[in-house]
Amino acid sequence: MEQIRIFDTTLRDGEQSPGCSMNLKEKIEIARHLEKMKVDIIEAGFAISSPGDFESVNTIAKTIKECTVASLARALEKDIDAAWEAVKIAADPRIHLFIATSPLHMEYKLKMTPDQVLEKTAKMTAYAKKYCSNIEFSAEDATRSDPDFLCKVVEIAINNGANTINLPDTVGYTTPGEMKNLIEYVIKKTPNSDKAIFSGHCHNDLGMAVANSLGGVLGGARQIECTVNGLGERAGNTSLEEVVMAMRTRPDMYSELYTGIDATQIYRTSKTVYNIIGQSAPLNKPIVGKNAFAHESGIHQHGVLANKKTYEILTPEAVGIHTNSIVLGKHSGKHAFESHIKEMGYTLDENELLRCFEEFKVLCDKKKTVADEDIEAIILHGATNQNETEGYSLDWFTIYTSNFTSSTSSVSLKFGDEKFENVSLGDGPIDASFKAIDGIINPPEHTFDVYNINSISEGKDTLGVVNVKLTSDNHTYSGVGLSTDIIEASITAYIKAMNKLLAGRKKS
Ligand code: KIV
Ligand code: ZN
Repeated sequence: MEQIRIFDTTLRDGEQSPGCSMNLKEKIEIARHLEKMKVDIIEAGFAISSPGDFESVNTIAKTIKECTVASLARALEKDIDAAWEAVKIAADPRIHLFIATSPLHMEYKLKMTPDQVLEKTAKMTAYAKKYCSNIEFSAEDATRSDPDFLCKVVEIAINNGANTINLPDTVGYTTPGEMKNLIEYVIKKTPNSDKAIFSGHCHNDLGMAVANSLGGVLGGARQIECTVNGLGERAGNTSLEEVVMAMRTRPDMYSELYTGIDATQIYRTSKTVYNIIGQSAPLNKPIVGKNAFAHESGIHQHGVLANKKTYEILTPEAVGIHTNSIVLGKHSGKHAFESHIKEMGYTLDENELLRCFEEFKVLCDKKKTVADEDIEAIILHGATNQNETEGYSLDWFTIYTSNFTSSTSSVSLKFGDEKFENVSLGDGPIDASFKAIDGIINPPEHTFDVYNINSISEGKDTLGVVNVKLTSDNHTYSGVGLSTDIIEASITAYIKAMNKLLAGRKKS
């Protein structure tokens, strides 16, 4: 059996998707989930790109023990220096070096001739190798490069010390058959190709990233670069959960190949990432969407009742979705609560357990039945709460609203021991509340980018989750609020995003 290495780039390429920037604590939390899920390599960021990125790559390198930790670097000395400085403390550091190889990129972006690109590849790979034994070299826009030129670049990179060769489909242009042929061709025609592991890195512009990555595997790639939930530039990258489960579900197609991923961690990792970026999975998202295992039609339900395999090719349990029907209620004690969340796959420390149990009890008084989704939201929401920076918190609010006048909101916020009150009119209760908060905080210039509201479970008394995103000084700050009262959830989300924005501006 040969292993396919899973290289996760959620924290680098994933973070490049609009509105998905994460703070340090959020990145560490995701890295811990990736480690638990047993990914082989975590690309923790692009160290040179900002002091914040450097710090997060460095902190992840210090924290993660079971995975290789990589930083991206252009083929420039200063990038390689920063990448090495950030990852050298890792248990297993890697420098991931890239340069574009397509005619279009070389001429218009790099303004370099093919020979200059070859020379730069040699020089910079050797430069990186002086620091680190584990070097990945990527030929950016490989799928639009001349295959024979690609072979020359790859040969030079390997000769100068690269031990992983990545062929990215940077613009999501290729097809599964073409990706298979390209990797097969480069492996066959490059004389020293046996000295490196080949890798595919696919973007999803035409919706084929997963299929193209699997094509690459059939062509000889032994590393797949992917992101949790398929996050990434534009339409995203290869989705980790889809590519891993496709290989697992079709061993006949990928015989003798396996990944080391603990698939039972997939669902919780996916939820955590969605929670951090303030989104939820599209209902029909394969593997982790709410409808991924739901059978609506009578014919399907009949078939599944007779034999699950009629319409189910993988089970929810395989990816860590808890399907126990025991329902907890207001009379459930702390022990029952604790063992229930353990069964759901969560282990909490004593403080977190107490917080969740208290929030659960409060919710039991508001809702007739508390579903697993509600409990999960309490747990995950708490995790983001811990990540919040110090700052303002909600003391109380009152709203006057009708469908024939402006709404009025009075809000009181706490900051340490101090309290601040303000009242404002607005176009509806949420607008009025946000304006009242602005009057207290007096925030720096920013844009209000996203306001999202979703229900967690079913019923009129469901918990509402609100995501707010604000941008200031090119940084996005998100906040999540959770409550059965959507105005309270909105106010909480707004305050949290504002606290992050204030802390971010103070830092910069
Ligand atoms: O898509 C791409 O080409 C990349 C490289 C930097 C690996 O992300
Ligand atoms: Zn990419």
